[in-house]
Amino acid sequence: MNRSNNLSKILIIDFGSQFTQLIARRIREFGVFSEIISHKKIKANNIVKESIKGIILSGGPLNVYQNNKFNFDKKILKLDIPVLGICFGHQILSKELGGSVKKSKNREFGLATINKVSNSILIRNFFNKKNTSDVWMSHADQVSKMPKNFKVVASTKNSKLTIIENSKNNFYGVQFHPEVTHTKKGKILLRNFLFLVCKVKRNWSSKDQKLRLINDIKEQVGNNKVICGLSGGVDSSVVAQLLSKAIGKNLTCIFVNNGLLRKNEEKQVIETFKKKLKINLIYVNAEREFFKKLTNISDPEKKRKIIGNLFIKIFERYAKKIKNVKFLAQGTLYPDLIESKSVTGSQTSKIKSHHNVGGLPKKMRLKLVEPLKFLFKDEVRKLGLELNLSKEIISRHPFPGPGLAIRMPGIITNKKIKILKEADFYFIKALREHGLYHKIWQAYAALLPVKTVGVMGDNRTYEHICLLRAITSEDGMTADFFDFPKGFMQSISNQIVNNVRGINRVVYDVTSKPPSTIELE
Ligand code: XMP
Repeated sequence: MNRSNNLSKILIIDFGSQFTQLIARRIREFGVFSEIISHKKIKANNIVKESIKGIILSGGPLNVYQNNKFNFDKKILKLDIPVLGICFGHQILSKELGGSVKKSKNREFGLATINKVSNSILIRNFFNKKNTSDVWMSHADQVSKMPKNFKVVASTKNSKLTIIENSKNNFYGVQFHPEVTHTKKGKILLRNFLFLVCKVKRNWSSKDQKLRLINDIKEQVGNNKVICGLSGGVDSSVVAQLLSKAIGKNLTCIFVNNGLLRKNEEKQVIETFKKKLKINLIYVNAEREFFKKLTNISDPEKKRKIIGNLFIKIFERYAKKIKNVKFLAQGTLYPDLIESKSVTGSQTSKIKSHHNVGGLPKKMRLKLVEPLKFLFKDEVRKLGLELNLSKEIISRHPFPGPGLAIRMPGIITNKKIKILKEADFYFIKALREHGLYHKIWQAYAALLPVKTVGVMGDNRTYEHICLLRAITSEDGMTADFFDFPKGFMQSISNQIVNNVRGINRVVYDVTSKPPSTIELE
């Protein structure tokens, strides 16, 4: 039994909005636990009233009269739990309680100014002295008739029922999105809902989480042995450290060097986890095995599959050598869990096959330990600091499982790996030296499979192009290129060309995601 199930929380019922995760994060930023569940999965009789202190109905792309496209159990509205409906959630709340919704004559997208009409605890400090507030809208339908016993709290020129409430029954509806930063005082409105309407207590800090998770792990695994695939990235490092604190020597971490890591990566991982943190670590040097399997492979998906499968095979091989293992620990995060269940029910098209340790080990009949499965990445970072992991580990840029293989389009050769490791090393070092590393979400060097002509010291050269990529992002789902200060690009280009044999040209990738992806393959 995971204790997170018993925590007081806010339940977010998702109708497929692109902002649902943002609602959950905002609430957690206030120190309150929140969970997302699809509207299709939640029924009134599954709701444990003692722990659910409030319900938020998210936005979504649907129309409330498309009855065949969703099924919302309206008995949920009879549970006497405070409800806040946002955008589509506002419309469904109104419709289910007897109001009406229709197509807006004037659709509202983007910034809008709303005017206060009456008082409500939901809007304490939300309006300025002129009784207006700037909000962000994105709707084509609107509530045209309020349910009985509701009153209007705020309006815009085009829609009279922008904020409505029935304070006696604790029902609130807002047509705009308080969770996005464009709604300037959106956080105030959410905070009012949490603490004034739901009267929920703060229970979600990194310190609480650390103790709770350590206890959860102890309870789940008892005296059994656990293995954990360590990559040196933030998530697996935090999982390893949590488990080590919970079960000490009953944890064994396995770190597989596939030969496609950044320069000195394996040394750093061994130094940190084996020497400093004294974690049981098996280091597997599988460079040759990977290289052999990847010979002459240039197709990106084939590269990914070969690496993913071989990783699991090697992992299993070593795991079997440890006796009496019952559990496999993984760094699954909350977004992985929600995305994999596709809350809207729509099939997202496969763009790349990402891999982590989660693939095959079912065959080994190991039970999973996933201590981070309720956390967002920023929460994992805070937890890591609480666990005394260094800032250096916690704030590292993400690095993909298939490593440098997907940063060198075309076939993989030892020579290319060597060149790329060096170029990446100089790039990342320069970012740190210029105080830019932490302003960037992810950065790397890649090696393009084209050679071009250059001239160095009066001699003709014919060498590779190095592509540099540096992006800003919130979660890797979308990204913008990082706009470097003047002079940086020229200096790093000089440094790479002068120091790395095999590169005579450096280019910078200025595409965003979408349309590009962050990695090249
Ligand atoms: P893309 O290229 O899909 O990358 O825009 C988004 C983020 O995911 C990382 N990435 C991976 N991470 N295994 C991982 O653990 C993978 O196979 C993988 N492929 C991409 C990528 O580095 C970026 O942060």
